[in-house]
Amino acid sequence: MAIDKLNNNPTIGYIEGDGIGAEITMQALKVFDAAVAKAYDGEKKVDWLALLAGEQAFEKVGEYLPEETLAAIRKHKIAIKGPLGTPVGKGFRSVNVALRQQLDLYACVRPVAYFAGIHAPVKQPEAVDMTIFRENTEDIYAGIEFAAGTDEVMKLVGILAEDFGVDKIRFPETSAIGVKPVSVEGTKRLVRAAMAYAVAQGKKRVTLVHKGNIMKFTEGGFRQWGYEVAAEYDAFTNEMYDHIKSVGGKQAAENALERALAAGRIYVDDVIADNFLQQILLNPERFDVVATLNLNGDYISDALAAQVGGIGIAPGANINYDTGHAVFEATHGTAPDIVGMNLANPSSFILSGVMMFDYIGWSEVAVLIKAALAKTLAAGELTTDLGGILGTDAFTDAIITNL
Ligand code: NAI
Repeated sequence: MAIDKLNNNPTIGYIEGDGIGAEITMQALKVFDAAVAKAYDGEKKVDWLALLAGEQAFEKVGEYLPEETLAAIRKHKIAIKGPLGTPVGKGFRSVNVALRQQLDLYACVRPVAYFAGIHAPVKQPEAVDMTIFRENTEDIYAGIEFAAGTDEVMKLVGILAEDFGVDKIRFPETSAIGVKPVSVEGTKRLVRAAMAYAVAQGKKRVTLVHKGNIMKFTEGGFRQWGYEVAAEYDAFTNEMYDHIKSVGGKQAAENALERALAAGRIYVDDVIADNFLQQILLNPERFDVVATLNLNGDYISDALAAQVGGIGIAPGANINYDTGHAVFEATHGTAPDIVGMNLANPSSFILSGVMMFDYIGWSEVAVLIKAALAKTLAAGELTTDLGGILGTDAFTDAIITNL
């Protein structure tokens, strides 16, 4: 557990964020405080600690990610943040990525479920109820890339050709090159987090999503090491299912699966990423918990969020389950087109708060906030991005009234 459950006054850092960040963050904190007061009647209270990051930090202290912010999160373990603008050409690829790397927040956790009242582009958005565990520190996102035409890339092309006999680079003179590290440890800690979550939440199925059919050693490694973790948990796998089916027929396999699930075992299978993107549209009810690599996870999270009605409401968390460090975040950007107009939807931030309260063991607060938000949305009290007429503050007030 990240925070001592007996601590009734935890300090939690918050980063307002850039653009609409200031508008949604302060409104969301109002909802959090009201829900905590309602749940615990003054017995517990969060001490919010303002932390700087992003453009706001650069303007105030000349740095995008001040050491003080990192030190505070290291110390207090938990923080929640609004969106951060990406600095252009200032040495940082992204403050978000830097934050994840500095604190080794290896699991990007994105629950995706439908809320009644929200317009979704598919016929049965309520069939989607999944939690994505996206690996956050490796893959092609590690940031090891060399631009076309540079000395570095020419040297790399030379080494690949001379030392490794690589002749598959179609245009060696003009290629940029990226490196895709995927490790045993990086995969296993992510898949363990997904398995532990499935066990804790009483979920039945964990699906490993990969492109191991093409990238045999990186994505294929993820698949193999993922199944090794499944074995640690005595999971019932699709390989076992297929074996029983080949020997005793489909009904025998179904019976074995049913018995395994009844005994509390988790079903672990794997799906190729492109097929998975079809399956979430065709059969979304089949999936519970998904463990995947960084790039696949990026695409899948946004596709699923869109499927249930948009990224304006999708929450997220970046967690290191070993150290307990966790940064919860609104998943959308800074929405420069609506800054200062009181149009921003704070739901993504608020639902990230729900994840945060669950994480620190204050589940009463999480339940209250989620129910109040669901009630507000179902009543058609919506912000303009969801087709309603409420401003950020009126929407927040409606949620607080519904607590
Ligand atoms: P964006 O998410 O900021 O905006 C896309 C569209 O969605 C815009 O029309 C915007 O008005 C709308 N929108 C987003 N959040 C909304 C909300 N809460 N309520 C109502 N409408 C909302 O994406 P964009 O324009 O690609 O990025 C803008 C900036 O945000 C960039 O600097 C980008 O790097 C940064 N960004 C930061 C993220 C983070 O900190 N987690 C994630 C994505 C982008």
